[in-house]
Amino acid sequence: MPVLSAPIASGRLIVLIRVLEATGSAMTNRNRDIAAAWKYHTATNHTERSVHNNSHHMDFDNQPRPFKIYRDLEAVTLPSGLEPSGTLALDCLGSAPSHEHRAPTLLELAGLMHHAAGITKVREFPGGKMYFRAAACTGALYHIELYLVCGDMPGLSAGVYHFGPQDFALRRLREGDYRGLLVEAAGGEPSVAQAPAVLVLTSVFWRNAWKYQARAYRHSYWDSGTVLANLLSTGRGYKLPIKVVASFVDEPVNRLLDLDDRKEVALQLVPVGETPEQTIAPAPPVSSLGLEVEPYSRREVEYAAIAEAHAASSLDLPQEARELWGKPPSLVVYEPQGRLFPLSCPPAEELPQETIEDVILRRGSSRRFRRSPITFQQLSIMLDRAAHPVPADFLGDADATLNRLYLIANDVEDLPSGNYVYRRDLGALEQLEEGDFRDQAGRLDLGQELSADASVNVYSLTDLNAVLERYGNRGYRMAQMEASITAGRLYLAAYAQRLGATGLTFFDDEVTEFFSPHAEGKSVMFLLAVGRSGRRG
Ligand SMILES: Cc1cc2nc3c(=O)[nH]c(=O)nc-3n(C[C@H](O)[C@H](O)[C@H](O)COP(=O)(O)O)c2cc1C
Repeated sequence: MPVLSAPIASGRLIVLIRVLEATGSAMTNRNRDIAAAWKYHTATNHTERSVHNNSHHMDFDNQPRPFKIYRDLEAVTLPSGLEPSGTLALDCLGSAPSHEHRAPTLLELAGLMHHAAGITKVREFPGGKMYFRAAACTGALYHIELYLVCGDMPGLSAGVYHFGPQDFALRRLREGDYRGLLVEAAGGEPSVAQAPAVLVLTSVFWRNAWKYQARAYRHSYWDSGTVLANLLSTGRGYKLPIKVVASFVDEPVNRLLDLDDRKEVALQLVPVGETPEQTIAPAPPVSSLGLEVEPYSRREVEYAAIAEAHAASSLDLPQEARELWGKPPSLVVYEPQGRLFPLSCPPAEELPQETIEDVILRRGSSRRFRRSPITFQQLSIMLDRAAHPVPADFLGDADATLNRLYLIANDVEDLPSGNYVYRRDLGALEQLEEGDFRDQAGRLDLGQELSADASVNVYSLTDLNAVLERYGNRGYRMAQMEASITAGRLYLAAYAQRLGATGLTFFDDEVTEFFSPHAEGKSVMFLLAVGRSGRRG
């Protein structure tokens, strides 16, 4: 959206916006210069050499605090005593969102925020306390923040709020109904236009870049993806309409949240609830607030590669956002070349009966795996629940995903050890190669033991060129977040079955080579290892 500094009579302003919209596609469109996404991706690929030559070390005296603390804003305490949805985790993970026409209650919003980004465990360490959150996060650095933009609702007046997990409270940044700004920024996206409340996820880059440097930009989408997986499944538990909106004009949303976009940016909008009869008024003017925040560290480092990748995938006009709805590139469908292993899911009454909230609260990342098998049925349930399309603006109604799942099965009962690709179109695993690939798996995750000891490793790979051709650089964000939402669901589907799981990093090109020729030309977006937690016997 253009920034207009001089006051303009409202009639002329509307004409000017229409002219800009009409010419939007013809204007130089930075999102369409897809060399930028490739540049970032290639520059941050892990290779043997890049890892070996990297002299970066973590400066623990300068470790960023994992919370955003506003100096002068009063806390609006959220209601405790969250009501359990009573919905089974595996039901939430396996089904489409609700289309009930209703608004969320404040208690439900509190429940959504708690199960997405709340503190779920506290561990004491010699150096202090560690606050673990509901969703997995690279390095437990928790750089994802949540904001709420809502109209008037029982118990909460219209406003823009920040969610503080440290005291389970909201802080009001702006008073009044600003949803109109989000509707406009998202190009009138119907779920946003009908939502009583919209959650906005952001990333504070430095809090992750402190350890991971420029790769923190990928991590913004990985770590928001696991938060989104929890949000979508908890929302499903509450039977609330809920969706991921990835296409919006960036600048006004960042301005609404009073963000310095070199340091913190909006990643996704998540409309919650659906009240079609509502009309959202245009938002009041959005001035800069200059709110004071406690410094995260004594000093911060900004990574140019992050700023460039984000700027290059930013949208300037609502029309650009609209152009990115639906029509995902189709995955190539072909006759299977290898042996097929159809998924084997038990009837609903035989599924584990734990609720979504209990599974989220119990989830943690496995630190070790015992070398012991999981069953093919357990793997089938995980794939069946995790790999269906995400409710997202960029997928629309298409029964499609941007990523394909590749597997190294080390130890799965009734499945020969080997490499597989998941054929969602056939509901089956297609074998690529039979054999024992533990050693290779243990190398691909940068030599950590976890992949070698896991029962199965699941890699998300995308045809990045096709994705970027369709969505521009914004497609990079979409492919990363979709892969991570799938991984977040896999985490939950594993824990719902009393298994363990962990996200892992990887040598990018080596993974592609490993699964080639099938995976030739594809890029790796995520790796999740699943198995039985515990020490090797
Ligand atoms: C995208 C992603 C990548 C991760 N990569 C690794 C990894 O390479 N090695 C590792 O030991 N843990 C990895 N983890 C696990 C995190 O360290 C873990 O989520 C974090 O410490 C928080 O703990 P929790 O998941 O038990 O709540 C990863 C997690 C995510 C979400």
